[in-house]
Amino acid sequence: MSVVLVTGGAGYIGSHVCKTLASSGHRPVACDDLSSGREDHVRWGPLEQGDITDADWLAGVFARHLPDAIMHLAAYADVGSSVSDPSPCYAANVAGTLAVIEAARHNGNCPIVFSSTCAVYGNAPALPVTEASPTAPVSPYGTTKLIGEQALRHYDAAYGLPSVVLRYFNAAGAAPGGEIGERHATTSLAIPKAIRAALGLGPVFKLFGTDYATADGTAMRDYVHVVDIADAHLRALAHLQAGGGSLTLNLGSGSGTTVRELLKVVESVTGRPVPVEPHPRRSGDPAALYANIDRAAGALDWAPANSDLGNIVASAAAWIEKSPG
Ligand SMILES: NC(=O)c1ccc[n+]([C@@H]2O[C@H](COP(=O)([O-])OP(=O)(O)OC[C@H]3O[C@@H](n4cnc5c(N)ncnc54)[C@H](O)[C@@H]3O)[C@@H](O)[C@H]2O)c1
Repeated sequence: MSVVLVTGGAGYIGSHVCKTLASSGHRPVACDDLSSGREDHVRWGPLEQGDITDADWLAGVFARHLPDAIMHLAAYADVGSSVSDPSPCYAANVAGTLAVIEAARHNGNCPIVFSSTCAVYGNAPALPVTEASPTAPVSPYGTTKLIGEQALRHYDAAYGLPSVVLRYFNAAGAAPGGEIGERHATTSLAIPKAIRAALGLGPVFKLFGTDYATADGTAMRDYVHVVDIADAHLRALAHLQAGGGSLTLNLGSGSGTTVRELLKVVESVTGRPVPVEPHPRRSGDPAALYANIDRAAGALDWAPANSDLGNIVASAAAWIEKSPG
């Protein structure tokens, strides 16, 4: 049994990570300021409520729980808003991440699993994207995550702080038990927005960009089930605890889906049309991204076993119907 601090443990992905850790016999401690997370999603261990930019609070959390590892998911994660208002994004993702890394360093080089993102790649020149593809983020959000990655690399080289950087593509879906799922005040994620629009629970679906160089002109993304992402965290923990070295890994399904293809799956799962309103492209949105996942498969023996798009949309729709608020 390991004690694992999960920053952002009250959030969408963090709560699934806590659930997976607990189901494998570990003790997750959710560290979250509840700025976008939900207290009722903290069910598998205690909540330490605070702000990761507060080094004194972090020192107290480490002293109280003596963690064996830290999973760092807390972040400002809204790509679109990071363009118009980058300040809170830099505060949480650069100052906050540095505070977490420093705390880990001063607590015996506590190993870190870090939530990064496909946004570090920007407009990838070739698909699928491998970990060796150039990193050229086109949003402040992607830039701040890349800074976090680089800090981890430098801290490993200089101080021996081990980490696994997980570059998630588009997280989607909900826990099969239906007890947790994505529920932000205003979601920025395409799948919940499309399901809500179809079910009449949210506004018409705004389709940003219909003139991309993809088969149907809409942006292409790689949707990976949140349960598969949580499973990768567990495997990354085992890797680090076995003395494995630092890694950077893509987590995706390995295939691309355009927005129009996604809307068809949502219509088929819900049995309802998705009302759509086309809009111009949004600044900061690349045209197409999907992952090569060979490295995660090889290093962690991981596979996106739950990431069939129909399965993802069905689990998300079940969660939204059960918990529409
Ligand atoms: N959702 C995706 O598709 C996706 C894709 C790639 C990467 N990521 C990354 O995964 C992580 C989790 O994303 P999510 O979708 O679950 O978002 P989320 O907003 O649900 O979770 C983030 C959590 O961090 C907390 N938080 C934010 N700032 C904090 C601070 N300063 N101190 C303490 N807690 C703070 C929030 O309250 C929230 O619970 C983020 O790091 C995000 O960048 C998400």
